[in-house]
Amino acid sequence: MSSVSRAPSSIVLFGPPGAGKGTQAGNISRVTGKPQVSTGDMLRAAVKEGSQLGAEAKEYMEAGLLVPDEIIIGLISERMMHDDATEGVLFDGFPRTIAQAEELSKITNVSLVIMIQVPDEDIIDRIVGRRMDPRTGDIYHVKFNPAPSDITPRLVQRKDDTEETVRSRLDAYHDQTKPLSSWYNEVSKDSDLRVISVDGRGSIDAVSKLIENEIGS
Ligand code: AP5
Repeated sequence: MSSVSRAPSSIVLFGPPGAGKGTQAGNISRVTGKPQVSTGDMLRAAVKEGSQLGAEAKEYMEAGLLVPDEIIIGLISERMMHDDATEGVLFDGFPRTIAQAEELSKITNVSLVIMIQVPDEDIIDRIVGRRMDPRTGDIYHVKFNPAPSDITPRLVQRKDDTEETVRSRLDAYHDQTKPLSSWYNEVSKDSDLRVISVDGRGSIDAVSKLIENEIGS
């Protein structure tokens, strides 16, 4: 159904913490054929492995701060050398600063930016109620998207999903990441880049449909 080109070009999924980027990424990946690349997931894997990079990133993540650009750019540069990235990928949670976006433009062509808009007042509830299945990586919510009862006992909560840390993550978003939306809008004026904005306040299915419609139009 998608009118998104399958030529080598990448998609950026952009939005505040808890906007539903991870929740929507699987469906967008399916309709566009682009593999999901989540810097948050990559960093959590590095923390779990106990690597040097993971140890460095952990402190920033637990404080709700952005991990330094050079660490993130190193991770992405390495990831984009994998075979499945040659036709472009779906970035989830990257780039998050203008410096990251500038570096990204040297690595891959970004043809589409999908911005999911959710107001701050909805974010805290979404994040504090989020639970994750450590076996599959599936994301649930205690109220908005409850897990099947056989899975519930093994669900975990992310360490950075406390109300206090969410507030720091929102500050980081407004100070360092939000300016990227104007940056991408400016870039789109002189290039083939498409920027679409989607209201992320509906149900998960409603937001999926909005995104699919926008991608296909
Ligand atoms: P990361 O893992 O990327 O976290 P984030 O951007 O804060 O995003 P989240 O994963 O919290 O939210 P999401 O938008 O994916 O929402 P979700 O779909 O889960 O990054 C974590 C940390 O790593 C950062 O703080 C930073 O330290 C570091 N980091 C990562 N990338 C970095 C980078 N590029 N540069 C520097 N540092 C970086 O949904 C949230 C909840 O809401 C779920 O429970 C879900 O079920 C529910 N939900 C989703 N959609 C809906 C809906 N429509 N209605 C109701 N509930 C919904």
